[in-house]
Amino acid sequence: MTQDELKQAVARAARDYVADRLPVGAILGVGTGSTANFFIDEVAAVKDRLGGAIASSEATAKRLAGHGIRVLDLNDIDAIGIYVDGADEIDAGMAMVKGGGGALTREKIVAAVADTFVCICDASKRVQTLGRYPLPVEVIPMARAHVSRELAKLGGTPKLRADMVTDNGNLIVDVHGLSITDPVGLEERINQIVGVVTNGLFARRGADVLLLAGKDGVQTYTR
Ligand code: 5RP
Repeated sequence: MTQDELKQAVARAARDYVADRLPVGAILGVGTGSTANFFIDEVAAVKDRLGGAIASSEATAKRLAGHGIRVLDLNDIDAIGIYVDGADEIDAGMAMVKGGGGALTREKIVAAVADTFVCICDASKRVQTLGRYPLPVEVIPMARAHVSRELAKLGGTPKLRADMVTDNGNLIVDVHGLSITDPVGLEERINQIVGVVTNGLFARRGADVLLLAGKDGVQTYTR
């Protein structure tokens, strides 16, 4: 199977997960990226069950609206039943690196509100140790150089992502060459650097459920 076929398979499994477990009329949180896009196209088939959706990016909001799915403002709702999103890497403890699409801050906000975080991935994303994928950090523009110097002290190589302005008007610095043995500790440490909005480690609030597509089908893991 190609990687896109695996993403399609896991998107279908996530649609069924949502249809089976999200109460009718409840709010669905929706992630960003190519796997999330497959999911949006699938979940459109059960859109009448949804009370609406919270989007983790402008791109996701546009795709949801294109399917006639009602996109709500997070400030107008009290709860999100399930949040479905992809990841760049996920480890056995359900900690993730996210933000390859630059939407990490809004993704982290939606994840913080959601009761259940369902991560949808193809098998290439499952790793023993996080860090092979560069760790994205969203940075206030005037703090770019300061934050990059501080990130370099952690042992990685920070690189400004070219031609990228986030939905929040900020920059992304990707940290290459990290071996992340303490995801919670590193997530907290990077968030303490003045000028950082947030970083792409989702460890303090990791996934609750992983739907993982491989050549033998989609496996479900729970925390
Ligand atoms: C976007 C993300 C995505 O979930 C992550 O980059 C995975 O993307 P894809 O499904 O395209 O591989 O965090 O900010």
